[in-house]
Amino acid sequence: MDDYILGIGGSLEPDSRSEVLLKHMLAALEKQGGCTEMLSLREVGLPLYSEKSKQQALAQSFIDKAARAKAIVLCSPEYHSAISGVLKNALDFLSKDELSHKPVALMAVCGGAIGGTSAINNMATIVASLHGLVLPQHVIVEQSYRNVGEVLESKYLHRVEALAGRLITFSSQYGNNAA
Ligand SMILES: Cc1cc2nc3c(=O)[nH]c(=O)nc-3n(C[C@H](O)[C@H](O)[C@H](O)COP(=O)(O)O)c2cc1C
Repeated sequence: MDDYILGIGGSLEPDSRSEVLLKHMLAALEKQGGCTEMLSLREVGLPLYSEKSKQQALAQSFIDKAARAKAIVLCSPEYHSAISGVLKNALDFLSKDELSHKPVALMAVCGGAIGGTSAINNMATIVASLHGLVLPQHVIVEQSYRNVGEVLESKYLHRVEALAGRLITFSSQYGNNAA
């Protein structure tokens, strides 16, 4: 296992707000001493999951990257009260081999003022089924540019920084490579 925290963004949009939010999280982790790597599913171009497509070099490289990470951050847009299809497809390539006892922080971006919880619960269910360690805290941001732009609105920035700190602490206490 390497020392990096892997951020996986769940949108294919070139101007994805959830990807912007994920970048804020990775910056907060770096600021607090974490080493991070960003994985944009738009750039990776994974095939749809099947036993056969899992053998492709692209898929194996994704699986390997997740396996070597000491912790993971998932950030999804909420689509129809669930996570995006592209993130679900990516998670289908993973198993307990990569996720077991791995700390995972969850974040979501939603369109409405009361959205996001379903996407968080959806990710928590998937990660728990793979025996990953879901942090009890998460961050949800409503999508307006004022909230998720180059500069994150301060109340969200504080939540992101707090989640980053908790992920670093959680990883050192409970992760596979805990001291
Ligand atoms: C197909 C689709 C379904 C959506 N369903 C929901 C939803 O159920 N709840 C919600 O709050 N927002 C919903 N939205 C809004 C997105 O969550 C929101 O636009 C988000 O910012 C998209 O993230 P992205 O910019 O990273 O792609 C939906 C958007 C799309 C395209």
